Amino acid sequence: MKNELVLVLDFGGQYNQLIARRVRECNVYCEVHSYKMTIDEIKKKNPMGIIFTGGPNSVYLEEAPHVEKALFELGIPVLGICYGVQLMAHVLGGRVTTPVTREYGKTETQFVSDSLLFKGLPEKATTWMSHTDYIEVVPEGFRVTAHTDACPCAAMENAEKKLYGMQYHPEVLHTDNGVQMLRNFLYEICNCQGDWTMGDYKKTAINNIRETVKDGKVLLALSGGVDSSVLAALLAEAIGKQLTCIFVDHGLMRKNEGDEVEQAFASWDINFVRVNAQEQFLSRLANVEDPETKRKIIGEEFIRVFEQEAKKIGVVDFLAQGTIYPDVIESGTGDAAVIKSHHNVGGLPDHVDFKEIIEPLRLLFKDEVRKLGQELGLAEYLVWRQPFPGPGLAIRIIGDITQEKIDMLQEADFIFRQEIALAKMDRDIHQYFAVLTSMRSVGVMGDERTYDYTLALRGVTTTDFMTADFARIPYDLLAKISSRIVNEVKNINRIVYDITTKPPATIEWE
Ligand code: XMP
Repeated sequence: MKNELVLVLDFGGQYNQLIARRVRECNVYCEVHSYKMTIDEIKKKNPMGIIFTGGPNSVYLEEAPHVEKALFELGIPVLGICYGVQLMAHVLGGRVTTPVTREYGKTETQFVSDSLLFKGLPEKATTWMSHTDYIEVVPEGFRVTAHTDACPCAAMENAEKKLYGMQYHPEVLHTDNGVQMLRNFLYEICNCQGDWTMGDYKKTAINNIRETVKDGKVLLALSGGVDSSVLAALLAEAIGKQLTCIFVDHGLMRKNEGDEVEQAFASWDINFVRVNAQEQFLSRLANVEDPETKRKIIGEEFIRVFEQEAKKIGVVDFLAQGTIYPDVIESGTGDAAVIKSHHNVGGLPDHVDFKEIIEPLRLLFKDEVRKLGQELGLAEYLVWRQPFPGPGLAIRIIGDITQEKIDMLQEADFIFRQEIALAKMDRDIHQYFAVLTSMRSVGVMGDERTYDYTLALRGVTTTDFMTADFARIPYDLLAKISSRIVNEVKNINRIVYDITTKPPATIEWE
């Protein structure tokens, strides 16, 4: 059975995959294609609807992406977003102009309530605007269905021809009811029934992998994080023994984590190699205090260990990478300043012989990766694992690293995580962990004076990890955690809770 399909035509906007993901959230299968797709190609796909993304251009520029007028005459519903709606207006004979000021950010918007696009939604709401040009005159047969103080046409439609568009971005969460507007487009206007699920995605992904890999060998660096674990499960299901996973245990994971990863994959019919390289990493890190140097050493060492192991397997056909969509955008932004050189386990090795890289999770967002993991039957604790930096506890021990400090931090962090889980706050706090500071202070235990380490607890709530707020953990819970840690972990006599946001602080301390 073939799924209902909606095409997203990409005009170069930054949110193109986000639109696709919102459509998938509405249970409709969706593919992103270039705006250059021809009318014949579109017809062959027989889509239920087409969505135009935004883009950085002005419709009047010669090099600006265009579409043929015939596209609007196919009888297929079209929704234009931002540049997409301007292009629709321009091609169909409306007028787009450049006003004196651009409109950017959250904007009060007034809607016409009898539009199908806004069915069931309030007449006034906030939308997310990001544009220079706007539509001054709508094409013949269209009416204006929303406006703001600065923008006379924030949405327009020709209901008879099923052509719709909006100047703002419904796909970003800053737009109130944005997903509902997309849902209205899909269900009320395109007449979709919503027949797409993560189960379908799994099947398609498995088929694609089998087609690409054929009888080739695939190598994967497994870190135990969500992305690489889900990828391992997906590949295991698709190609079984043709897959070898190498799990480099650098000894800087959280308590028990190395064993947990090994256990989780023990029952899968794949080749699983665990390399216990704790001592090797520790000796390379001895007396190193600078965070970036630590990251560099761990990155290099990781690649070296991985290469040594890979050599034993010989030539492989494919190297699999757990790249997900946010990594694709972040690595594509070019001139952003490097705050921390994020070494992600799985960086490219120079000396492993492989023919091609495959990245089957490339188009998924984090929560979709988790859903896929659940669909594949991966253990809950792996699917819901909070993000954990590639360099691990090395960047949560301030200054130099010793085995003693690792042990201390693992114990303290374990207690913290245990209590948060017990309080059922583990899904509300997006990342939480302990940091062993290099500071020691005076305390008293029994009748004895102590001079021991200060441990910091950090918990943040965030949507994208680019900005974050500190989590409001109740005082009583903090009190319990603090008392357990100082009582149960030797050489820690003081606990502090980090109450800074990001920015100006970062999430990790190093
Ligand atoms: P910061 O500390 O930059 O962290 O606010 C943002 C997110 O990135 C994670 N992080 C890292 N991840 N290698 C990684 O793979 C690293 O070196 C690294 N440093 C920070 C951090 O845990 C948070 O989720």
